[in-house]
Amino acid sequence: MNATQNVVVHINGLTKHYGKVQALNDLHLDVVQGEIFGYLGPNGAGKTTTIRTLLDLIRPTAGSATIFGLDANKDSVKVHERIGNLPGELALWNHMTGWEVVDYLGGLRGGVDRKYVGELAERLDMDMTRKVKACSSGMKRKLGLIQALMHKPDLLILDEPTNGLDPLVQQTFHQLMREVSAQGRTVFLSSHNLPEVEAICDRVGILRGGKLQAVERIAALKQVRFRWMTLKVANHADPALFERLEGVTDVTSTNGSIRFRVTGELDPVIKTAAQYHVIDLMYEEPSLEEIFLEYYGEK
Ligand SMILES: Nc1ncnc2c1ncn2[C@@H]1O[C@H](COP(=O)(O)OP(=O)(O)O)[C@@H](O)[C@H]1O
Ligand SMILES: [Mg+2]
Repeated sequence: MNATQNVVVHINGLTKHYGKVQALNDLHLDVVQGEIFGYLGPNGAGKTTTIRTLLDLIRPTAGSATIFGLDANKDSVKVHERIGNLPGELALWNHMTGWEVVDYLGGLRGGVDRKYVGELAERLDMDMTRKVKACSSGMKRKLGLIQALMHKPDLLILDEPTNGLDPLVQQTFHQLMREVSAQGRTVFLSSHNLPEVEAICDRVGILRGGKLQAVERIAALKQVRFRWMTLKVANHADPALFERLEGVTDVTSTNGSIRFRVTGELDPVIKTAAQYHVIDLMYEEPSLEEIFLEYYGEK
């Protein structure tokens, strides 16, 4: 991010209390034009609260937000003309078909490009003739995405958009987001899934307990990538054999299993492991906390 880029979403000191629960605590964040911003955090972190505040569905306790330079609250009507939104839990009209939903919502916006809707439906493999009540949760999610995208908004605000989508449709969704971004349009999406955010986002903000812990470019985080490897072996594995390998650290062993961190080349590790009778092998992504600790620890 640099000063010449257009700030699309500007969040300034946003705070939200629900009674005694502090859902958001003095949040500051800018999202710039054309980027795909991943808003990552575990359940209860405050992602939906942030999104609902941006959309003016709830009022902050303190602080404010502007979108396209307009106040998210006072100018919400104007702002909403340029936003596509997928709520976390989408309420649709059960008796309507997909097409009827789209025509109705499109009508509120002064018309809908049915050809474009047809293209989106085809790419997402969505049957628009089906009534909402006969749709699975995944199909409802796809209809939600179609209504968010159909008017080609300048900003997409999507609350956990891929929840309940099968992997193939997720891929299509990722592709769609890249196209949106390539057209200079902006995406703000929340997720609790690191691999997904890594796959499509330019930057990620980590929210926890209503506080923004960090905001980083994905490319920077990827440089500190490492994995945890756990081997189950028939007899005791000698930790010293692994400790001397380059890029292997944090070795712990118990009877019958050994666990360590691997950065860099995997081949020497595999060859060392091959000296043992390996019963099982696990190779895990680090948690987000571990990646961030590593990233900030090195600075
Ligand atoms: N309407 C509400 N009333 C009271 N507490 C709420 C309400 N909505 C959310 N919360 C609380 O605020 C915190 C943040 O919730 P939320 O924004 O939904 O998190 P996320 O979307 O990241 O899972 C949680 O502790 C949640 O229980
Ligand atoms: Mg949520």
